[in-house]
Amino acid sequence: MAPSAEQNRTQDPAGESRRTSIAPNAFYVPSPVVLLSTESEDGVVDVSAMSAVGVVCLDPPILAVGIKPRRHTYKNIRRTGAFVVNLPLQDGLEAADYTGTRSWRKEPEKLEKAGLVVDRLPESGLPYLPSCPISMACTLVGNLGRHELGLDVPPSHQVVLGRMTECSVDDAWLGEDEVRLEDMPILVYLNRVYASRGTNLGVQRFTDDPLKREAKMREYRSLGGREQ
Ligand SMILES: Cc1cc2nc3c(=O)[nH]c(=O)nc-3n(C[C@H](O)[C@H](O)[C@H](O)COP(=O)(O)O)c2cc1C
Repeated sequence: MAPSAEQNRTQDPAGESRRTSIAPNAFYVPSPVVLLSTESEDGVVDVSAMSAVGVVCLDPPILAVGIKPRRHTYKNIRRTGAFVVNLPLQDGLEAADYTGTRSWRKEPEKLEKAGLVVDRLPESGLPYLPSCPISMACTLVGNLGRHELGLDVPPSHQVVLGRMTECSVDDAWLGEDEVRLEDMPILVYLNRVYASRGTNLGVQRFTDDPLKREAKMREYRSLGGREQ
């Protein structure tokens, strides 16, 4: 029988706080909600919400997405070797949730029902969502499963790695020489609860010298795209 929360409770040495050991759950790491747009070999587009997503390399830019192998999205990625990560805003919550609760297999008209319009990126021709302020096309460069991860059990999700090859941003979110990501009211996913992102609290403190800090911020945020 699993120990009760009471049995797992410990008091810190100073006696100021109590902590409880609980089962590991990857969803305790907050993440954004993104919409993955993919297509079949015949060019039929699917869009699905994903939150098991993160940055794993800056140069070259590589993203990781954890995707259940039974998802139609996953099948599309396996077959075409490509996917697009679109960043929805708060006003797109309902559509995002809709795509994340219906599989294309059961509901092939899920995009229309979600009210989503698809367009094609200029370079790759991959499907993206103009309603999202930024869309990032990725080429599949890795797919990690039980064998690659050295697991003793089949993982619930495959770790799909995509190298970003094309990026398109709505001009409304462009600053002088940067993407105004910090101003976007993106959707945050907190253990299956949707949240808004809150206010900006400050910039990265590379140095105490305000001029140097400003120069570094300009360099790192420049649309030229450099490693950090
Ligand atoms: C907010 C949200 C986040 C999700 N994140 C993931 C995820 O990271 N990985 C995954 O495999 N499924 C995730 N899902 C579930 C898929 O989006 C859902 O199963 C969808 O119906 C798959 O559709 P498809 O079979 O057409 O690809 C998420 C759903 C929601 C609502």
